[in-house]
Order: sequence, then C-alpha cells, then structure tokens
Amino acid sequence: MKFLVNGTEHNVDVPADTPLLWVLRDHLGLTGTKFGCGVAQCGACTVHVNGLSQRSCVTPVSAVSGMSVTTIEGLQGDTAEAVQKAWTNINVPQCGYCQSGQVMSAVALLQEKPKPDDRDIDLAMNGNICRCATYARIREAIHLASDAMEGKA
Ligand code: FES
Ligand code: FES
Repeated sequence: MKFLVNGTEHNVDVPADTPLLWVLRDHLGLTGTKFGCGVAQCGACTVHVNGLSQRSCVTPVSAVSGMSVTTIEGLQGDTAEAVQKAWTNINVPQCGYCQSGQVMSAVALLQEKPKPDDRDIDLAMNGNICRCATYARIREAIHLASDAMEGKA
C-alpha cells in the first residue's frame, strides 16, 4: 500500500484493515499522533488526509492509499506556524497528551475558516477531548493564531 506521509512516499506491507494510527506509530515511528479511545471519540489520533482532519484510529490504511497524510511531525506552512506559536505563547498544554490532536484540528479549522468565532471554534473542536480541560486556552490560542495570520498580533 503506497501513500504519502509528510511529503514522503511510503510503501507498507500490512493487512488492508490495519488502522492508519498503528501504521503511523508502529511502522513509521511517528509517535506524535496519540492513541486515546480507539473509537473516534476523543480526537487524540487526529491527522490530516488530503488536508482534512481525520481520526486515524478508525481509518483503515487502505482508505488512504494514494493519498497525502500529514501528522503533527510534518505540519508546516503559515497556519501551522501561527497555531504553534499561539500554543506556546499561551502555554496551552497541561499534560500534553491530547495536544497534537488539538493542534491538527485547530490548523484544519483555520485553513477552512481563517476568522472563526467562538461558536465556530467550539463546533470544530468539539470532538477533541482534553482530560486536563485546557479548552479555554485552546480557544484563546485559536483566536490569537487567527489574529496573527491577519497581521493583528
Ligand atoms: S484515539 Fe482516535 S478518536 Fe480517540
Ligand atoms: S492537556 Fe492533558 S489531556 Fe489535554
């Protein structure tokens, strides 16, 4: 099965129904993407597939054949930089476990909607659970990243 991960082509020999998450972590060593629930309920495993957020724990690797997958390790570009800077400036993470998924969802949101309001943020980030309840800082960081991209911060 061939697909791109962070711009590099990979050819993996695994059963077609192997979850993408395990291929990323166990075969490609990309452990920034986390396992939380395994049933698309927490968002810890969020990656981008052809630029859109996807839960890699419930995505069979066969579903991304020929596609482009981006993980937290390969995030780049203006939106990703703005989000990463905002996350650092506001010190969003507590334990950190959920945060790669949060960042992936935040970048996907801002790429689709560069100026989200609180409701947009809550809707887009709704599926990303944080056991440490960093939700207020996540929302603030998304606004900060949005302002930075607009040249206001
Ligand atoms: S591990 Fe995939 S959504 Fe929880
Ligand atoms: S920072 Fe601990 S689970 Fe989100």
